[in-house]
This record gives sequence, C-alpha cells and structure tokens, in this order.
Amino acid sequence: MDTKLYIGSPVKARLTILEQGRVSEVSLEEANHWTLGRKTETNSPDIPLASPIAGREHGVLVCMSGNWYYLDKGSANGTYLNGVRIDNHYKETSQPQRLCGGDLMEIDGGDLLQPDERRVWLLFSQGTGQEDWLSHRLEEPELQVGGAGAGGLELPFLQEEIPYARLFCDEDRTCVASADGELAAGALEYELQDIVGNGRVQVNCRDVGNGVLLKDRDVILMDGQPLVYAGRTLYYRSQPGRVPGSQQVGDEIKRQAGEKGQRESLLLQVDIHTRKVPVGSGVRELLRGVKLQVSAGSLVAVLGTSGAGKTTLMNCMNGMDTKGVEGSICFDGIDLLKNYEQVKYRIGSVPQGNVINPVLTVRKELEFAAKKYLPADTTKQEQEQRVADTLRKLRLEAVQDNRISKCSGGEQKRVNIGVELVLDRQMLCLDEPDAGLDPQMKTELFEILRELAHNENKMIFVIIHDVSDISLFDQVILLTKVEGVGRLAFSGSPEHAEAFFGTGMKEAYGLLSSRPEYYVEKFAGMS
Ligand SMILES: Nc1ncnc2c1ncn2[C@@H]1O[C@H](COP(=O)(O)OP(=O)(O)OP(=O)(O)O)[C@@H](O)[C@H]1O
Ligand SMILES: [Mg+2]
Repeated sequence: MDTKLYIGSPVKARLTILEQGRVSEVSLEEANHWTLGRKTETNSPDIPLASPIAGREHGVLVCMSGNWYYLDKGSANGTYLNGVRIDNHYKETSQPQRLCGGDLMEIDGGDLLQPDERRVWLLFSQGTGQEDWLSHRLEEPELQVGGAGAGGLELPFLQEEIPYARLFCDEDRTCVASADGELAAGALEYELQDIVGNGRVQVNCRDVGNGVLLKDRDVILMDGQPLVYAGRTLYYRSQPGRVPGSQQVGDEIKRQAGEKGQRESLLLQVDIHTRKVPVGSGVRELLRGVKLQVSAGSLVAVLGTSGAGKTTLMNCMNGMDTKGVEGSICFDGIDLLKNYEQVKYRIGSVPQGNVINPVLTVRKELEFAAKKYLPADTTKQEQEQRVADTLRKLRLEAVQDNRISKCSGGEQKRVNIGVELVLDRQMLCLDEPDAGLDPQMKTELFEILRELAHNENKMIFVIIHDVSDISLFDQVILLTKVEGVGRLAFSGSPEHAEAFFGTGMKEAYGLLSSRPEYYVEKFAGMS
C-alpha cells in the first residue's frame, strides 16, 4: 500500500462485488485509492476481478475529502453507474463520479434486456449507521417480498404495505452453495412470481408474466428500485437510491456539494517556500515566501505591478504550472503539487486573452463545453439547464444567439468565464478578465463574480490592475518584486490592507514600489 495516494483519512465504505459464481466484499476504509481491474499473471489490481470483460486497469476508487469517487480508466467495456454509462474516454479532463451509498455499478453493456453472463455488479455502501445495501440469504423454500408491514422480506423502499412478489424453490430440487458464496455447478435457482402486477415487478427490465426462473446476477426491479439476485442472496437497498438515468443523480450531487458543513471547510492553503525555474545555464527564482489562505465563498483580487509574479502565482495555485515549486498548495486538504489529478476537475482557469471560438454563438459555445466536458451521466436536460443558468448568471441571455465575434469585449470576457462556470468549478482563476473593458463593464463583471462567489460558495481569483472596484472583493493578495523575485506584500481583506498601509489601495501601490522590502518583512512579521 506504500504507493497509494493518501488524501486525508479514507471514509468508511464497502464494495460488494458480484461476479459469475463469486461474491466478495472489500472494506474500502483500509486505503483511499483502489485500482479495480482484471487479475492476470502480470496484473494485480487492489480489487481483482475475474471477469474477462473487465479491463486490466478498469477503474479507480478514490476517497477525497470525505467522499468516494470512481473514475473509469479508459476501459473497453465501460462502467455503468445506476444504469448510466460513465465516460470511459480517459483523458486529462475526465471527471470522476461521486459515489453515494446505495449506488449500483455494473461492468457490462448496460443493457438489462440482454445481460452478459460475464457481467459484474458492484454495490457501493457508505452507510454510517445502517448499511446502504442489505442482503437476505435465501434459505427458505418460499419467500414473500413486499413493503413494510406486508410480512416476509420487507423492503424499506417500497411505498405500499402489500406483498409484491413471491420467490420459491421447488423442494424436490436442492439448492447448493458453499459458505463463501461460490455456487456449485448446476445449482438450482429460485423462481419469481409477480403478485402486485401492473409491471411494478420486472426482471432485467422485462415483465415477469407467469413467473421467471432467476439466474445469477439478474436484476429484479420493484417500483423501479433494483434488487440483485446473486449467490442465492438478494441484495437490496436500505432506502430508495438513485435510479437509472434519473434527474436525481445531478440533484443529489448538487445537494451534497451544497451541504453547509462541506462549504465551510473548503480552503486553499498556499505555502510556497520558493519557485525556481531554469534559465539558460542557471536558475531564476520567480517566487519566494508566499504563504496565504483563502476560503470558499470569496472573491479574491491578485494585485501587483507588472512582472511581480501574479500570473506565476495563479498558475501555481490552480496547479497548471508548478514546476520548481518547493512547499505545498492544498486545495480542500489535497496537495495539488502531489495529487493534481485528484482536484483538477474542481478548478477552472481562464488565461489572459481570448480562448473561445468567435464563429459560434454564445449559447452554442456553452452547449459545446457542457457536452464535451460534463460527466457522461449528465442528461441532455441537465446540460441545457446548466447552460441556461450560466447565461442568466453572467447576464448573457440577451446576446445568447449572437456570434461571439459580434459581442462586446465585456460579453466576450463573460463567455470565457461561462465556459468554466457551466462545468461548475469550485475554484476559478481569471487572469485579467477586465482587460479592455470600460469602467462600467468592469464593475458589472466584478459584481457578477461576487454574486457567484457568495451565492455558490466558489473561490474566485481575479488578477487585476485597476483597484477602483476593490471594495467588491473579499480578499486582496498583493505581490511585489524584491531583487527580481516575486514576494508577498499582503494578503487579507481590503479594509485590513488599508489599515496595513495606512492609506487607500491606490496610494498603497506607490508606497509599495518605493519600499517593497519593508512591507514584505512587515507582513511576514505579522503572519
Ligand atoms: N518560465 C519562466 N521562466 C523565466 N522567467 C519567467 C517565467 N515565468 C515568468 N517569468 C518571469 O517572472 C516574472 C513574473 O511573471 P508573471 O507573468 O507572473 O508577471 P505578472 O505579475 O503576471 O505580470 P503582468 O502584470 O505583466 O501580467 C516576470 O519577470 C517574468 O518574465
Ligand atoms: Mg500576468
């Protein structure tokens, strides 16, 4: 386990793996990074699968900041989460899928009507009290299944107190299974009869009719909620879970992302001792002693004279260019110098200059970004909703059908930001987004960004030169150059900056350029 990434303590969770003729369980809290794949003579993943349709490096499960995520590593057959195919075109921008207790993952074609014999079910449990997946080992020759109070096996997620189905095994036939769940060849299975009718009980998405003989790893749907039959055991959820293809998936992620406890804990902690880059045959030190902290829900101005190191610092904080950095940069507890892959999808950057396609319309540009980069389980409806929300938040609705080339400079800047916003990044880094805007447009842009930071708990960094609107910002980071090296002269609220310099921000620039070393040392002495 020494090669595992360690990102805080892994959270209690369990994966139940249902493969052909085999049921196994993994307690995920033993590590926070697990590779999942087909075991071969030369390949030993942490969670080994036997199925030939699983890839050697099929996917990874990672725990970050108290949540478990799954990332498909580019497997040929893909992975389905609650019936929706996860993006398996593994690339830089791949987005891990947040897992919730009760999630049902599958390695197969995802078509329940035509299940593959070799398919694998992965049941994810994260119950803190009660487990999310419960199981009932079928010992009895007959079992009635229904809602609470109906007798027999009572399923907590069924709404009505009535029997839904009956399972029975002909007593003349023997059902043989060994203690570890391995089915003996030729073991007989249970038959299922629908009691409730109206298509409310299905097996592999087909109506049950007069009865169905269950096969290992069949999925029984009762009012749309799945039960998996494997190793003569029924696996079922302790409460209703996310259902295939449902809007609930996005809603649940949003709900959890917005949980207050999580909001308050999101921090960026920067402690750069130095950043040196090779220049010719020597090295040049670009930054030294930059130690600061920013919390979510803040609009942050990054200030300093030209060449002071603003872009350099921003590209360290967003993880885009960290070569030669000594120190640590932790986003939500994860050091992005070491584990950038784990956090990059939560951070968006808009570099200096235009990066968008001028021939597209504003709406098309955002739709394109949503389609290309949002997680694969995002429905078309959710994509459209994101685009509509982004247009509204950035006040671009009136120009949504204009070609970008015909938009004003301010609108073009907002489209640039929109591309990142549509992807719902938690941290946004904008390098001089106000360049070329008139004062009124600048103010409007900063007001929009402030609303976004505050209402959506985002951390937004903006490199600016003009400090006329500084009161709209929650924090200022002020850099200066001492003997050619970028240094931190101040980090804190604009009010504290004024107290620190004993003057307004505009005048502070002048003071700083005359005595840079004095202010760097004064600030370092205070923090
Ligand atoms: N990779 C590099 N190699 C050598 N020098 C570099 C490198 N990157 C940046 N610099 C130098 O570091 C200093 C800071 O550059 P940076 O782009 O961060 O400045 P800035 O504060 O963003 O300036 P501006 O306001 O002009 O955009 C500059 O002198 C720049 O030439
Ligand atoms: Mg710059």
